[in-house]
Parts: sequence; structure tokens; C-alpha cells
Amino acid sequence: MPYENLLYEKREGIAYVTVNRPKVLNALNAATMRELGECFAGIAGDPEVRVVILTGAGEKAFVAGADINELAVLTPLEAQETTLRGQAVLERIENLGKPVIAAINGYALGGGCEIAMACTLRVASENARLGQPEVKLGIVPGYGGTQRLPRLVGAGLALQMVLTGEPINAAEAYRIGLVNQVVPAAELIPTCEALAKKIMANGPVAVRLAQEAVHRGLNMTLSEGMNLEATLFALACATEDSKEGTRAFLEKRPARFAGR
Ligand code: COA
Repeated sequence: MPYENLLYEKREGIAYVTVNRPKVLNALNAATMRELGECFAGIAGDPEVRVVILTGAGEKAFVAGADINELAVLTPLEAQETTLRGQAVLERIENLGKPVIAAINGYALGGGCEIAMACTLRVASENARLGQPEVKLGIVPGYGGTQRLPRLVGAGLALQMVLTGEPINAAEAYRIGLVNQVVPAAELIPTCEALAKKIMANGPVAVRLAQEAVHRGLNMTLSEGMNLEATLFALACATEDSKEGTRAFLEKRPARFAGR
């Protein structure tokens, strides 16, 4: 389905989703958020897609935040609806059941940093800059920034970023664990593809369950998380893939996973 503000492509098990508003540094207006929601709903139900790579069009920005033209005229109730709708789109990305890799190819500010944090893995190009500049506009992060950032980098560094509004460069984002890897711009998509292929070589059900264990576990106490892990471990052990994976190791051959 053609989108107004997104590019969508599917190749060899990887879906490529590109936010495509380069003239405004891929700022997220309501129409783009709606399209992202629809696009990820389609991906969730498409068994051909094993991993998603999310990026921004052009060489300057991943996503430079929510569209400030729209933010400037919101009433309080519209603002609440906008936030809740946006949070739901990001939750869909986070809980897609397939890994989503953010290829951060430049500015990832406000909603851009937030959408990257809802992804499973983050790879940044050397020119990337990440931040939550909302307080500079007199507002606060609204797509989960106040919640996911402290979970990723700890409360102290998150508060520094959220309260100063100052962006950090890619090297600093790597140092504090906000991104997994930093590479030259030309290597960004190939690096993400290599990561995707490593994941795709593994048991698909195991990948889904392991991701679920981490994400759901983060919102539980340690003992609840351990219980969840034990249940998902048992479920994984009941799959054909677990029989194939263990047998292949013992027979010293590559596994052929069926995803069952
Ligand atoms: N919403 C709407 N338009 C945006 C935007 C946003 N979040 N971010 C950038 N743009 C637009 C600019 O208004 C400009 O439009 P114009 O060409 O019609 O003037 C265009 O994108 C290019 O941006 P510009 O500011 O000229 O580029 P720059 O290289 O000088 O600065 C940034 C880049 C990212 C530092 C700067 O654009 C910026 O601070 N953007 C806002 C970031 C932000 O606060 N995001 C959080 C929103 S909650």
C-alpha cells in the first residue's frame, strides 16, 4: 500500500520502513504517525517479515521530533489524544513480536529519540545526535521519553538530557548505552542488515519469546520476571525448532528452523 509520508520495501525477510519528510527533517505529523501505526500493524501480520529496519529519508535526520507546526496549536485535550495515540504506535513497535532496528542516520530528537527507544536495537551513524529538547519548547516528552530513557540509561543521565534539552552526539550515546553501535554513515544500513541476518539465522520462535521475556520482564519484579522466563523457556522447549536446533548442534550441522 503506498504511503504519503513513508517508504516501504521488503527484501529477503527484512522490511525497510523510512520516514519520508526530508524537507522538515522527517518530523512526525499526525498523518505520519497514523501511517506508522498502519504500517507496523501490517508488518505484525506478515509472516514474510522477520526483522524491520526503521530509518529516516535524507542524510541529515532520522526524525527531528514531533511536527512543531501541529504542536503549536493543540488544545489540552487534543494534546492528550495526540500523546496517547503516539504512545500506542510506539508500543506497537516495541511489542511487534519481531526485532525492529533503528538505523539512526542523523538527528533523533524528541519523538525521534522516543521512536528509536521503542525499537529493539539502535545503530547510529557517526553524525547522529540524540536528545529530548521538549523543555526548550516549554513542553515535556510525550511519546514515552520520560519512561524509556531512564530505563535505558538510568535516571541521572535521563534527567540530565530531559531537563537540559541538550542533544548528545553518537559517541556519547554509545558510551551511555543509548545506542548499541556507532558506524560511519555509509555503513549504517549494511551494519543493520548484518545484524538482522544474524538474528534471522536463529530460531524465529525463540527470538520472539526471548524478546518478550526481556520487554515484559522489565515491567515486573525480579521474581515475576523469573517466572515469566521459566514459562517461556518451557514453551520454547516444546517447539520443533528447539528439537532441530539442539539436534543440529549435536550432529555438527547448521540448523534448519521451521519457525514452529
Ligand atoms: N517540526 C517541524 N518542522 C521541523 C522540525 C520539527 N520538529 N524540525 C525541523 N523542522 C523544519 C525546520 O523548520 C526547517 O523548515 P524550513 O526549511 O521551512 O525553515 C527544516 O525542517 C530544516 O530545519 P532547520 O532548522 O533549518 O535545520 P538546521 O540544520 O538548522 O537544524 C535541528 C536542525 C534539528 C537542530 C533543528 O531543525 C531543530 O531544532 N528542530 C526541532 C527539534 C525539536 O525540538 N524536536 C522536538 C519537537 S517536540
